[in-house]
Amino acid sequence: MGEGGVGKSSLTHRFMGYEFLETYDPTIEGTFRAESEVDGVTVEVEITDTAGQDSFRDIISTYYSRRGAGYMLVFSLTARDSFFALQNRIYEELMDTKRSLSGQQHERVPIVLIGNKSDLPSNREVQLTEGQAQGREWSCNYFETSAKFNENVRESFVTLIREMNIA
Ligand code: GTP
Ligand code: MG
Repeated sequence: MGEGGVGKSSLTHRFMGYEFLETYDPTIEGTFRAESEVDGVTVEVEITDTAGQDSFRDIISTYYSRRGAGYMLVFSLTARDSFFALQNRIYEELMDTKRSLSGQQHERVPIVLIGNKSDLPSNREVQLTEGQAQGREWSCNYFETSAKFNENVRESFVTLIREMNIA
């Protein structure tokens, strides 16, 4: 989950083993299946690459109600607004939906927080310490990634898969 243009599709494509593309093609929705070895166990994961742009907002809420899902919350290190969107809207909407479905106040939802585009340090608008602090507040792992240079991409997915207890 995350705003338009933060790199959700690029991260997904990298994890699938595809090349990085500079061109921006806004997603409506895409589903990918991947086999991955995690801690010596082969797991099959289904990745839903969601739409970030506001015009597709109404389909986004349906992703929150999926059972057994884990969530990558992605912002761009070069766009503070995309960090705000997670803090002010996306995280609460996700947790509210999970709580109301389970009826439990402290629903445990597998999440990793991702600050993407770490290869653009001169455009950086969100500092490492801010991402780390948010990760602590949400009790989730925080990674800074570059889909472009394939940095921390696999680590992020593997960490989420571990959180989902399917490995
Ligand atoms: P929506 O589908 O609209 O929600 O966007 P998205 O989050 O899927 O973003 P997408 O992966 O399409 O990437 C948007 C733009 O950012 C593209 O031009 C990518 O090439 C670029 N981009 C994505 N990840 C990186 C990265 O790690 N570094 C750099 N420099 N550019 C990136
Ligand atoms: Mg996309």
